[in-house]
Parts: sequence; C-alpha cells; structure tokens
Amino acid sequence: MPPIHTTTEPLNILQRIWVSVFPGTRGKPVERQAYRRLFNSLVLHFRPRTVPQRTLKFSLTWGLGGMAVVLVAVLFTTGLMMKLVYQPVPDRAYTSILYLQDAVLFGQLIRNLHHWSGNALLLIVFLHMLRVFFTGAFHMPRQFNWVIGLLMFLLILGSNFSGYLLPWDQLAYWAITICTGMLEYIPGIGTGLQHLLRGGVDIGPATLSIFYAIHTAVIPAGLLILMPFHFWRVRKSGGLVIPRSPRENPEDTEASVAAIPDLIVREIVVAVVLVAVLMVLSVAFDAPLGAKANPGLSPNPTKAPWYFAGIQELLLHFHPLFAVMVIPILILAIILLLPYLRFDADSSGVWFCSDRGRLMALVAALVALIVTPLGILADEYLVDFAAWLPTLPVVISNGLIPAVLSLTGIIGFYGLMKKKYTATNNEAIQAVFILLLVAFIILTLTCVWFRGSGMALVFPWGGMTVATPS
Ligand code: HEM
Repeated sequence: MPPIHTTTEPLNILQRIWVSVFPGTRGKPVERQAYRRLFNSLVLHFRPRTVPQRTLKFSLTWGLGGMAVVLVAVLFTTGLMMKLVYQPVPDRAYTSILYLQDAVLFGQLIRNLHHWSGNALLLIVFLHMLRVFFTGAFHMPRQFNWVIGLLMFLLILGSNFSGYLLPWDQLAYWAITICTGMLEYIPGIGTGLQHLLRGGVDIGPATLSIFYAIHTAVIPAGLLILMPFHFWRVRKSGGLVIPRSPRENPEDTEASVAAIPDLIVREIVVAVVLVAVLMVLSVAFDAPLGAKANPGLSPNPTKAPWYFAGIQELLLHFHPLFAVMVIPILILAIILLLPYLRFDADSSGVWFCSDRGRLMALVAALVALIVTPLGILADEYLVDFAAWLPTLPVVISNGLIPAVLSLTGIIGFYGLMKKKYTATNNEAIQAVFILLLVAFIILTLTCVWFRGSGMALVFPWGGMTVATPS
C-alpha cells in the first residue's frame, strides 16, 4: 500500500483535517491501513474489542436492540428536519403539516419516515423486551438493565403518544381526548393530572404546547441519558447473555472473536436493511392525516392509538378504575420487579428456560387464545354483574369482582402448571407471562379490528355488527 502522504509532501485538505482530528499522525507516513486502525480505535470506544462468538448468532438478538438504535437515530434526524417547518399552535399546526407535505422538497417522505419509524420503534423495542425475557437475559447481573430498558420503553410509549397530537387532525384530537379522559378515573389525583397534562380543562393551545415540549425536548433528553446508560450496563455485565442449550453449563468458557469486523459488519448489514425497508414503506404508504381537528364533531367510533387499544378494550369489560389504573399499574409493577422475583434456577441464555418451559409456553399461549375471545364474548352478551348485583357500587360489581375472578384464574393457572408439569418457578412464571401477553394482544386486536360504531363488536371485513351489546 503506497503512503497517503509522507513527511516531506504537502498535505491535501483531507489530510489536514485528518491530522487536526488525530494530531498523533502528524508528520508520520500514514497508510490506508493506519487510517483504518484509527477509525477502528474510534469505533472501539463504543463497542467491545472482542465478543463471545456465540453472541453473534442472529437468533439470539434478532438484531432488535441495534434496530432500536437505528430507529432512534432516524427519528431524531427526521424530527429535527420537521421542527424547522412545524408550528405548535392549533391555528397553524395542521396547515404547517400540509405545507410540509405539499411544498417542502421530500417533506412527505420525511414525515412518512418519522411516522413509520416511531411505530416500528415501539414494536421493535417490545419484541426486544420479549427476546430479553425469553432468553432469561434479565437475571443477575442484568437485572438493573431490565429496569432501565423498561423506563426507555415507557419513554417511547410517551413519545408516540405525545407526537400523535401534533398534526392536530381529527384522528389526533379525539384519540388524545379519550386517552387523557381516562385519567379522570384515577381517584384523588386523576382530574389534577388530567388538567396538568392538558394545560387546562379542555384540549387546546396549552395542550399542544405541552405535548410539543414533551415530544421534542423532555423525552429525547431522557432517551439520550438512558441509552448510553443501557449500553454501558450491557458491557458492565460482560456483554450479551451467551446462548446455550438447556443442558449446557452457563460457566462454560466461550471462544471470542474480534468485534471488528465480525460484529460491526453484522450491525451495519442490519442497519442498512432496516433503513431500506423503512424507505420502501415510506415511499409506498403515507402517514395518515385526517381532516383538521374539529372539537365539535367526534368521530364514531373514537379509538385510542393502537398501543393503547388493549386498555380501551379493557375499559369495555372492567370499571374504569380497574381498567385504567389498578390492572395496568399492577402489571407494570410486576414486569418492573420481574428480575427480582425468586427464581429456582439460572436459565439465562436458554430460550424459554428448558424443553418443558417451551411446551408450557405453547400450552399457555393456546389457553389464552381460547379463553380471551370467549371471555370477551361472554362479558359482551351473557355476564352483567352490575345488573345481577344492583345493590353493590359499580366499582365493586364491575371492577373488583371481575378483577378478583381474573386474578383467581391466573393464580389457578400458575398452580396448575406447576403441579401438572412439576415445573420450576422460572417455567411457571414464564407461562403466566405468556398467558397475559397473548391475552393483551387479543384485547388489542379486538379493539383495533373488531370494534365498530358505538364500540359494538363487528366483523372487520364486512363492517357487520356481530350483535348489539347488552
Ligand atoms: C430505546 C430502547 C432500547 C434500545 C435502543 C435498546 C438497545 C439495546 C441493545 C443495542 C442491546 C444489545 C444488543 C441486543 O440485545 O440486541 C440491548 C440489550 C439489552 N436490553 Fe435493551 N434496548 C432498549 C430497550 C430495552 C427494554 C424495553 C428492555 C427490557 C425491559 C431492555 C433490556 C435489555 C437487556 C436486559 C439487555 C441485555 C441483554 C443480554 O445481555 O442478552 N432493553 N439493548
């Protein structure tokens, strides 16, 4: 390889910039190899020098954490671009979005990229969380990273939600109206919290400016703090969990390979493919934009964004206090404390704990697939605790009683799984997790696809009502 420059040659502009960044190379013959070495040393500030070979298996991470990083980068870039045009006041927000789409070069594409990346990020981070759970990568020494991850998940949820209002169209206005309306059911602080978030009693200019600040400053700042912390914790825990079969010892030593090129090349491939998919999606499908927000005309049905649709469906079956507060907070607290529960064995690195865990996971998914739709139909057409027990307050008949019944069912399922399969704690907890996960997915799909006018159950393909709810 010939030298790029020698001590005697005058430097060209690129070389001058180079030596200003890396003064150590001044006056030395710098060959292409040396440039590469310096670039590598820069990369190695962020990535480990070597990684256990097995952690490179795509079927360990599915590239999900890396994809989340790329999506955050795309969101920050496209968000900054839109910030130059968007005006966060009700009179001008909608028209500024129209202007962005119609009059700014690539404006529609930038908005589409931002929209699809935001939705994809929520999905990808959720899948990343599932992969961490199902490979037992939340056990010691990674417990705290699970907590940091969950905080980031909540931030991303908040980011999608706060961004939803910004176009100020009918879709946004009414979705945020019903979601912030749910806060009223939190006893004591609910109304205060609602007014704080809305900046008053109703949704208006103050709400838009608060959501804008949360979306473009508070949450990005939170992510910029938590993400490096998350990556640092991965390294502090000795890298990723090492995948192994149930019969392998977790202490087995593992061959390592250099991160450059083995890890970096894989990461670049995942990033390039993801950006390509996003581009295709953004060219083919425009981000939705309804008519300008009209506070006097509510669409029927008014649905929450898809990521809150599961909670909206719960609202149709439980008293709002339970649907909006007790159940979500209980589930969130359990997920947060999950790594700190008592587990019988170290199953980290083993997909679904063990062979038996795999079977139990399948059984749990099937049970949820059958029981959840049956429960929805039964509650819609047969069960009516409020009518059967008219003397009781509705919060008891429609809240406490169905909640206690559901909890009894879940505890019963846990006990049954443990007994029938003589399962470990790890396997039984995982089965309950899957039961709740599949139930939540079915609730979400029901609300998104099977609810029509007046939130009655309908067949999505015909818009036909299944029957009038009782
Ligand atoms: C913006 C959101 C997030 C980003 C950018 C992110 C990024 C990453 C990356 C790049 C890794 C290493 C590679 C990989 O596993 O794919 C990782 C690992 C990890 N993440 Fe996340 N993550 C996010 C959210 C979460 C969430 C929601 C959780 C769980 C609640 C979580 C828990 C973990 C844990 C425990 C590890 C270590 C896994 C192991 O050792 O195998 N992360 N994350």
